[in-house]
Order: sequence, then C-alpha cells, then structure tokens
Amino acid sequence: MSNGAGEIALSVRDLKKHFGGIKAVDGCSFELPKGRISGLIGPNGSGKTTTFNLLTGVLAADSGSVIYNGENISGLRPYQIFNRGISRTFQITRIYREMTVFENMLSASSMRVSEREARTRAEELMEFVTLTKLRGEYGGNLSYGQQKLLEFARALMTDPDLILLDEPAAGVNRTLLQNLLEHIHYLQEDLGKTILIVEHDMNVIMNHCEKIFVMDYGVKIAEGLPEEIQNNEHVIEAYFGH
Ligand SMILES: Nc1ncnc2c1ncn2[C@@H]1O[C@H](COP(=O)(O)OP(=O)(O)OP(=O)(O)O)[C@@H](O)[C@H]1O
Ligand SMILES: [Mg+2]
Repeated sequence: MSNGAGEIALSVRDLKKHFGGIKAVDGCSFELPKGRISGLIGPNGSGKTTTFNLLTGVLAADSGSVIYNGENISGLRPYQIFNRGISRTFQITRIYREMTVFENMLSASSMRVSEREARTRAEELMEFVTLTKLRGEYGGNLSYGQQKLLEFARALMTDPDLILLDEPAAGVNRTLLQNLLEHIHYLQEDLGKTILIVEHDMNVIMNHCEKIFVMDYGVKIAEGLPEEIQNNEHVIEAYFGH
C-alpha cells in the first residue's frame, strides 16, 4: 500500500501471562496501525502494564507472539527489543536516582545513535521537557512529575520507531501535559512514529488517540474509534459495572 496507509507496526497474537492464579494477560490480540497514535485503556489491574512488559521483554510470555517488522520478538531480551527501535516509559518511573538528569539522558545510549548525536539530542530533549536548569540535579531529587518528564525525554533518545507510554499524564501539570501531547503529535505527524499510550486520563485518550483498545481481566473487550469506544456497552460495563 502507498504512503504506509493501513500498514501494521506491531501485531500481538494470543498473548498470555499468568502469575500463579492471576490471569494478568489471558489471550490478548491486537494490531497497532503504523504511524498512528493508539490508546490502551482498561480498569486498574486489567493487564495494560503487563502487556507493555511482555512487548518489551521485561517479562517473558507464557504463550503467544509479538510480531514487529515481520519478526517474532517475543522471547528476546529487553535490550534486543530496544535495539530494534521499540522504546517505552514505565508507570512507576525507572530513572537512575544516583545519576544526574543529563547522565540519565545519556544512559539511554544504543547502537542507534553516535555519542555526539546523543549529546545534542539530550540537550534538545531536556530543553523540551523544561529540565535544562536541572541537568546537574540527581534523579532522586526530582519531583514525581519531573521524573515522568525525564523518562519521557529519555525514551526518545534513541529515535525509536515505536514508543510505548505507560501513563505519561499522571502527575504532570496541565501546561506541560499540553506540550507533551503536542510533542507526541509531532512525533507521529512529522516523523511518522507509531505510539501506544496507556492512560486513565480520558481527555488524553479520547482527544488524541485515533484507535483505542480496551482490556478487562487480561483480554481485549473492545477496539475502535473514540466515539465507538465511548458508546460501547462492554466498555461502560467494565468501567462502571463492577
Ligand atoms: N509481577 C507480578 N506478580 C504478580 N502479579 C502481578 C505482577 N504484575 C502484575 N500482576 C497482577 O496482574 C494484574 C494486571 O496488572 P497490571 O499492572 O498489568 O494492570 P494495569 O492494567 O496496568 O493496572 P493499572 O491501571 O492499575 O496500572 C493485576 O492483578 C496485578 O496484581
Ligand atoms: Mg499499569
């Protein structure tokens, strides 16, 4: 197909991960449209973060597959998946507390960019998330919102093609959130990146995602456009029915 329309960036098939008796992800399948912003929503504990952990190799799946650029990447180590151009942020930030902001930025090094390029990118990204003044501050001294911003900026250091964001809006002030959303649109529209956002903030999901996937008890219960999801009775039941 021309200009990438309709192409699939990532295909998840029948993914499963149980923790003892907890079926965190229980046969989940979905396809991420390439070069688009998609959303993944669901009640607390529905399996969203576990899905991210399975996509990025942080956890090994019990079964199922993850196909990225025609390759089954399930079973690969996190750094191998990272080096294939998939980057993420964590719901509970994983910045280095004993490293400075600038060192945290550079720590996301990879074969994908040279050191000189990494330094330039780090400067640009710190400026964008308004952390330049705090470049010498230890990560552990940043507020929660600042840590989220640092992690977002760090996730972009390697110029990833697929970006997975786990609750990017949580704890970030409205003005900065607006900038963050603009940057996410810039990544998609101008650079052609594929983005998947897990978020409880329905404003972010409904106004900024083209396609939405809904999970409940480890399975996908709905997918569609924002207006379809808002009126879907399974989704309403999942959120308000229990
Ligand atoms: N490492 C783990 N060990 C045991 N149980 C886990 C582990 N990780 C997740 N779970 C369980 O799996 C289920 C799904 O958790 P998950 O973190 O994926 O949910 P979530 O959709 O991201 O929720 P939230 O919106 O609250 O972040 C929950 O019942 C959780 O307690
Ligand atoms: Mg989560």
